Amino acid sequence: MKIKNLKILGKTFLAPLAGITNLPFRLLVKECGCAVVCSEMVSAKGLFYNSEKTFTLLSSKKKEQPLCVQLFGSDPDSMAKGAKIVQDLNVASIIDINFGCSVKKVVKQGAGIALMKEPTLTKIILKAVRKAIDLPLTIKLRSGWDPSGQQAFKIAHIAQEEGVDAIAIHPRTANQGFKGQANWDLIKGLKQQITIPVIGNGDINTVEDAQKMIELTSCDAVMVGRAAMKNPFILSQIDDFLETGSYQTPSNFEIFRTMERLTQMYVGYFGEKTACKMLRSRLSWFVKGMPGCAAFRTKLSGIHSKNHILDLINEFEAGIT
Ligand SMILES: Cc1cc2nc3c(=O)[nH]c(=O)nc-3n(C[C@H](O)[C@H](O)[C@H](O)COP(=O)(O)O)c2cc1C
Repeated sequence: MKIKNLKILGKTFLAPLAGITNLPFRLLVKECGCAVVCSEMVSAKGLFYNSEKTFTLLSSKKKEQPLCVQLFGSDPDSMAKGAKIVQDLNVASIIDINFGCSVKKVVKQGAGIALMKEPTLTKIILKAVRKAIDLPLTIKLRSGWDPSGQQAFKIAHIAQEEGVDAIAIHPRTANQGFKGQANWDLIKGLKQQITIPVIGNGDINTVEDAQKMIELTSCDAVMVGRAAMKNPFILSQIDDFLETGSYQTPSNFEIFRTMERLTQMYVGYFGEKTACKMLRSRLSWFVKGMPGCAAFRTKLSGIHSKNHILDLINEFEAGIT
């Protein structure tokens, strides 16, 4: 699959996940194997106004490329300037625009899924961003504000006309949040309506789900969010399965080494105190379903240093092997 002139080696995208897909997590997923990783959403206005906090979200390493940096906003000028800043910093291989975030703070600014009600403004934004950058440009949609998908199709046609290179879709409505099921029929419908690549997203919980989505919808690639938070190997497992018909399940040994690796990377990047706070929940996701995971989770709530975390991981590992 190609997005503009960028050849994608594989069919898997790590979804943009605010608060989760920071640099260390993306590097971990990349090390486990994944075609494309996406950043957390980044405020175009924050870049425009030179916010230091916003710029830290653009921290990147060469080895995670191709990285897709996702921007959000609703003002054409700051969107175009934000995209140009990202391009000039040489941190991204793809720039994506968020048309799916339904969080109040974002919708109130007219950004995220609010844009799906605004075809005229969408056209202006996409034209401005396309003019500002040469990098491959994508957008990520939800179904829209009603379940029919008509808003998604309309925005997708505008995007294609304005030179967007691929479209990701999470087919849930604005009000659905994460409730109910993603309507994969809309991925199929979108694929039939446009000629640029379609990336299907929503409710891929297993490797087999990914294959099923591709079979049912003919989407060009799949994007996985929540399942990768628990199993960072899932994207490489999907690519292996699609290519060879089989995949390996990581051993407990590999899972514990991955937890140690994430710990080292978080501490190196965020510092020990912040990393400990962040890792309390994140590490427990990796061991869900293992015997003694509840007690391990309780212990994680008190972690205060890197060595403390590594000791707890070793203790837990010794208990189950
Ligand atoms: C914690 C969390 C943060 C998210 N942040 C973003 C975001 O910044 N940008 C975006 O387009 N979607 C965001 N999403 C939506 C996901 O990218 C994805 O569309 C959704 O989780 C459905 O995919 P899944 O079923 O594989 O998780 C977020 C979802 C979660 C759970």
